Amino acid sequence: MPTAKSDAFVFFGATGDLAYKQIFPALQALIKDGRLDMPVIGIARSGWNLDKLRKRAHDSLEEHGGVDKAAFAKLSKLMRYIDGDYGDAQTYDKLRTGLGDAQHPLHYLAIPPSMFVPVVKGLAASGCSQGARVIVEKPFGRDLKSARALNRTLHRFFREHDIFRIDHYLGKEPVQNLLYFRFANSLLEPIWNRDHIASMQITMAENFGVQGRGKFYDEVGAIRDVVQNHMFQVLALLAMSPPANRSADAMRDEKLRLFRSMRELKPEDVVRGQFDGYRKEEGVSKRSTVETYAALRIHMDTWRWAGVPFFIRAGKQLPVKCTEVLVRLKNPPQEVFDAPTNGAVNHFRFRLSPDVIISLGARVKVPGEAMKGHPVELVAHRHVRTAMAPYERLLGDAIDGDSVLFTRDDCVEEAWRVLDPILGDKVPVHTYKVGTWGPKQADALIADAGGWNDPKVDAPPKVGS
Ligand code: BG6
Repeated sequence: MPTAKSDAFVFFGATGDLAYKQIFPALQALIKDGRLDMPVIGIARSGWNLDKLRKRAHDSLEEHGGVDKAAFAKLSKLMRYIDGDYGDAQTYDKLRTGLGDAQHPLHYLAIPPSMFVPVVKGLAASGCSQGARVIVEKPFGRDLKSARALNRTLHRFFREHDIFRIDHYLGKEPVQNLLYFRFANSLLEPIWNRDHIASMQITMAENFGVQGRGKFYDEVGAIRDVVQNHMFQVLALLAMSPPANRSADAMRDEKLRLFRSMRELKPEDVVRGQFDGYRKEEGVSKRSTVETYAALRIHMDTWRWAGVPFFIRAGKQLPVKCTEVLVRLKNPPQEVFDAPTNGAVNHFRFRLSPDVIISLGARVKVPGEAMKGHPVELVAHRHVRTAMAPYERLLGDAIDGDSVLFTRDDCVEEAWRVLDPILGDKVPVHTYKVGTWGPKQADALIADAGGWNDPKVDAPPKVGS
C-alpha cells in the first residue's frame, strides 16, 4: 500500500470553530516537531484574506496552548488562503493552481457533513483528488443509510485507504494505553471472557452543556455525537480479540468482528435523557426531543462474551467531567470468609480522563482476629500533562498515510447498524436536573449488573506538586 507522505495540507472550513480550536494548534505542534513542511492551504467562503487567516491562527494559538514564535513564523510562511464557495468550480481551479507541484495533497473536510459531497465532487472535477487523501470529520452520516451513501460517494473518488475518518478519541493517549495494556501484558487475556467477567460499563460524563453549539447538537444528540463513535471505539478496544499485528487492517478487522457480533439495539436496552433547560439553549428547538444523555445495554453474540452485558452512558450537565470504564469480575464461587457488603469483589477500573488510572479492586483482610475484609484498590495513577494532543497525533498520521487510528468504512456502517433501530424518537426522552447523574430510569437498565459506577474526580494537583 503506498504510504507516500502528503506534500500539501488543505483544510476546508479554515475560518471555522474546529480550525480555531484544534487545527491551528495541531499544525503548530507538527511544525515544532519537524513533521510539517509543506504548503498549508486554508479554504473558506468568508470573504477573508491571508492576513486575516494568519491573525486568526495567532488568536487560536494564544487561546489554545500558546504561540511558539519560530513555529508560528514558519506556519505563517507556509499558509495560503483561498476564499470561495464550496459549490463553485472556480474555488477548486484556484486550489489546483495553489497546489502547484504537490502530488499527494491531504484534504481535510473540517466542515458540516452537508458540505462533504459538493466538496468531494469539486475536488474530483478539478483533478485535486488525484493522488490525494481526504480526512472526514465526524459524525460520519446520521444513520446506516446516510453513512452508506456517504461511503459510496467517497469511494467514487478516493480509495478506501486514502480516506481518513477522524474520531479524536482514538488519538488520546489513555485510549491508546487501553489497547496497549490489554495486549502488551499476558495477565488479562486468560480472564477476559464470559467465564470470569460479569459486566463492563463505560461512563462518559461532562459537567457542562452544549457550549454554544446548540444548533449543531440539536440535529445530532448524544447517541450520534459521542456514542456511535467515541464510546463504540472504546468498547471495541475493551472487548475485541487480539489483533494479529499492529497494522491498520489487522486492528480494524478485529474491531469489525466485534461490531458484527453486537445485537441491534431494542428500545428496552436504551434510556434517553435531556437536561432541564436544554430547550432554552440558543439554536435548540423549544420542543426538542433530542437527548443530551443516553444509557445503553449491549449484547454480543460471541463465545467470548455471550451473556455478558456491556453498558455505555454518556451525558452532558452531569456532576463531573470524567470518562471511566469499570469491568466487574465474577465473584468467587463460594464465600469462605465474610460476605462482601457491596456487590462485586473484584474489578478493573480504567479512567481515561481527566487523569489516567488503572486499578484492580480486591478485598483484603482487616487486621484482627476475625477473618473479615474490606475493599481496596491497587492503583496506578498518572496525570497527563505532556501527552501529545489527539489532533496533532491524528493529523500527523494522516500526513504519513497511517490509518491505524482512523475508522474504516465497514466498521462505521456496523456501528450504525447496531444503533439504527433506536435512533430518533423511538425511545422516550426523560428530563433530568443539571448536576445529577441523569434520569433515574437508567438505573433499572443496569440494576441486575450491580448498578452504575459514578466516578469521583478530585481537583487536579497544582503543577509542580
Ligand atoms: C466531541 C463531541 O466529539 O467530543 C462533544 O462533539 C464532546 O460534544 C467532545 O464534548 C468530548 O471530547 P473530549 O476530548 O473533551 O472528551
